[in-house]
Amino acid sequence: MYILAFESSCDETSASVVLAEDGRFTVKSNIIASQVDTHRLYGGVVPEIASRAHAEAISRITYEALEVADISLSEIDLVAVTANPGLIGALLVGVNFAKALAIANNIPLVAVDHIKGHIASCYLGEGDIPNPPFIALAASGGHTAIYKVDSHTELFVIGTTRDDAIGESFDKIGRLIGIPYPAGRGFDALSKEGFIKATGDEVNFYEKYKKSDAYKDKEFYLPSPALADGSLDFSFSGLKTAAINLLHRFDQSGVEIDKALFAARYTYEAVEAVAKKLSMALDRYPGHDLCIAGGVAANSHLRRRIANLAKDRGVKLFIPSLDLCGDNGAMIAAAGYYEYKAGRLADSSMNASAQDSIQIL
Ligand code: KG4
Ligand code: ZN
Repeated sequence: MYILAFESSCDETSASVVLAEDGRFTVKSNIIASQVDTHRLYGGVVPEIASRAHAEAISRITYEALEVADISLSEIDLVAVTANPGLIGALLVGVNFAKALAIANNIPLVAVDHIKGHIASCYLGEGDIPNPPFIALAASGGHTAIYKVDSHTELFVIGTTRDDAIGESFDKIGRLIGIPYPAGRGFDALSKEGFIKATGDEVNFYEKYKKSDAYKDKEFYLPSPALADGSLDFSFSGLKTAAINLLHRFDQSGVEIDKALFAARYTYEAVEAVAKKLSMALDRYPGHDLCIAGGVAANSHLRRRIANLAKDRGVKLFIPSLDLCGDNGAMIAAAGYYEYKAGRLADSSMNASAQDSIQIL
């Protein structure tokens, strides 16, 4: 079946056509209109501007998605749309557009949870794809949570951040050291520079970092965001505040901070915390494979660390390709397909919601 899917929960408007056959997906088009250049002027997403930009882009990118896929609307079998969580005004643009399109053309409609979408991006791969049950990490600008995925439609939160999300923390700290919004990618590159500087090794820099003098340097101490209470939870606000204080200390003492070494230290603490909690999750749920998704799953250090973790533990790891880590319509199509198969059709009463809907176990 051909699925036309929409994503507009934050600062990317996306429309995608995906062909679903026998549990495999082929992405025919995945058009993404990014608003980051606009929001960069303000150092972060301005919700009202985001909603307007979605409204301006959505018709154009829908035509484009159909054209690139070389398909007409009459051949579409299902419309899927992100209905929550996210910025309410932004979500409403996608929801109302998808609803009108589906009802006017008599096409079945499904509502998709954005996080289910991120996790479903792992189903879009061409090779081996995950088969529930498995453990999934969703790491993005708004979420840092670990899920027990029992089936394609049933999943539960088993660990989460109690405050800030990992991506949000990269964006905020990145901004303070001069990396433009969204800072995640720049932070990744600067950290690599720092790891190499600290270890003198251009290949195994992450693995050797803990033994380096830079890691032992007390001036650069940062606390782990992994809560030490036996839970699978995080607190990124503690790490963020400590990093802000560290930057202030350097500033006040008139010593220029080595930004690359600082970024490496920050990334290391963030990534190690995620690795620790994922390892605990795998201990708790033996026999589960692992999947990491969301914008921050594009982080090269995280990808590498979790790949090593999976190898050590003998579990399969699934990570979407880089172009499918950030927000996109194709992942919403994959999640929407399973909502449809589960018979969860939406109708004209479908509404958007800013809230998370996945239950905590
Ligand atoms: O999933 P996503 O596109 O949107 C949300 O649902 O939030 O994630 C966006 C987040 C931003 O915080 C961005 O800085 C971060 O993903 N990000 C990265 C990298 N690429 C994007 N963070 C760390 N390293 C990266 N390479
Ligand atoms: Zn997202």
